[in-house]
Order: sequence, then structure tokens, then C-alpha cells
Amino acid sequence: MDLHSVRMEYTGDDIASLPREPFRAFEIWLSEAMKTEDDATAFALATHTSDRVSVRMVLAKDLSADGITFYTNGDSIKGEQLNATHIAAGVFFWPKLHRQLRFEGAVTLLSIDDAEEYFASRPHDSRVASYISAQSRPVESYQKLHTDFENAKRVLELLPVPRPPKWQGYRIALERIEFWQGQPNRLHQRLFYAREKNGEYSRTWLQP
Ligand SMILES: Cc1cc2nc3c(=O)[nH]c(=O)nc-3n(C[C@H](O)[C@H](O)[C@H](O)COP(=O)(O)O)c2cc1C
Repeated sequence: MDLHSVRMEYTGDDIASLPREPFRAFEIWLSEAMKTEDDATAFALATHTSDRVSVRMVLAKDLSADGITFYTNGDSIKGEQLNATHIAAGVFFWPKLHRQLRFEGAVTLLSIDDAEEYFASRPHDSRVASYISAQSRPVESYQKLHTDFENAKRVLELLPVPRPPKWQGYRIALERIEFWQGQPNRLHQRLFYAREKNGEYSRTWLQP
């Protein structure tokens, strides 16, 4: 498939006025994206081990100065990779705004209480699905998966769905963050923040 002739023109406002604190800038962009995009809180999460780099989408569930939070099964590929390296990178792409937002940092496991609280807040059927799914393991058949789901639903109808012990929350610290705003003629604006040893952030404007 030849894609050479596909051309997208990017446009956007000047982003010079973004706040000095990257977390505030992150909040502004995420809030704006939630008004324009279909799935604004979804980001691509990259994790690795020495012989493998993996990337997949996850849903952001919290954003604070401490970092960005998501939930997953710790026995999945990403869970195993995070358990080995404790670092990750993420990227949001908000096409309607012609914006990309990247971040990198150390990853910490949230407390069991946090995992319990968020798990309990999810819709019943989502909890049942997490309960019966050994994420990232081979599936015998999707028919059997659906049967397991219906059986578990019946059994757990009037009971609290137990959180799978490895269903956990993770937080990625905002050590490096880059805001990319598309501009005409490929003269895009890139604002890069890096957290220094004293906890303050440096800001650098990068060439497109
Ligand atoms: C839009 C979108 C959002 C997703 N959100 C999550 C999520 O929050 N947590 C999760 O474990 N998987 C989520 N997934 C599924 C993952 O992309 C992935 O298939 C799964 O977590 C297994 O990844 P792994 O084998 O690399 O660990 C999402 C997928 C899509 C397309």
C-alpha cells in the first residue's frame, strides 16, 4: 500500500502561554481534548524489558502533580515488564486539536486500597469480565470466554465481585513531558519540560 500521497495539514494556536507547571498545562490540554475527542483519556503506553519493547492503549484514570494513573492486570505483558523495569512512556494523540502529549517516568504501584476503590466503582459486568480474564494469556475459544462470563455473572449476581489480586493501579511520574502542537508548513511547536534534581521543571522549546 503506497501512502506517499497522503498529506495532512496541521494547524494550531501558539502555545507560548502554557503554564510553567507541566501538570497544569497537562490538565488544560486534557480538559480541552475531553471536549473535542471521542476517547480523549486513552493513551499509548510503552513498556520494555531487555529484549522486548511493547506498546498498547490504556485509559488514564487520574492526573495529578504526582503523575498519571491507569489500571491493568499485573500478570499481563505490561504488568510483567513494569515489574521488571519500573519505567514507562506514554503518548496521547488528540487529532482534532492536532496535538500530541508525551511523558516518561518511573512507575509505582498504587495501594491495594486504591485498586479496591476503583475496582468497586466499575460497572458490574466490567468487574466480572476482569474477574474471569487472565489478560494476555491464550484463550481457548471466545465462546468459552462468554460462557465463563455468563456463569460468573450468575454466581456473582448478588455478591460483590472480588478484585483479581493482580488487578492493580500504576502511576507514571511526570519526569519528562512534551507538548506538541501542529502548525502550518510542518513548523510545529514543541515544549519540553524535564524535572530537575531539585524537583523544579526546566522548559525547552524544541525544533519541529
Ligand atoms: C482505547 C483502549 C483503551 C484500553 N484501556 C485499557 C486499560 O485501561 N487497561 C488495560 O489493561 N487494557 C486496556 N486496553 C487493552 C490494552 O490495549 C491491551 O490489549 C491489554 O491491556 C493487554 O496488553 P499487554 O498484553 O501488552 O499487557 C485498552 C485498549 C484500547 C484500544
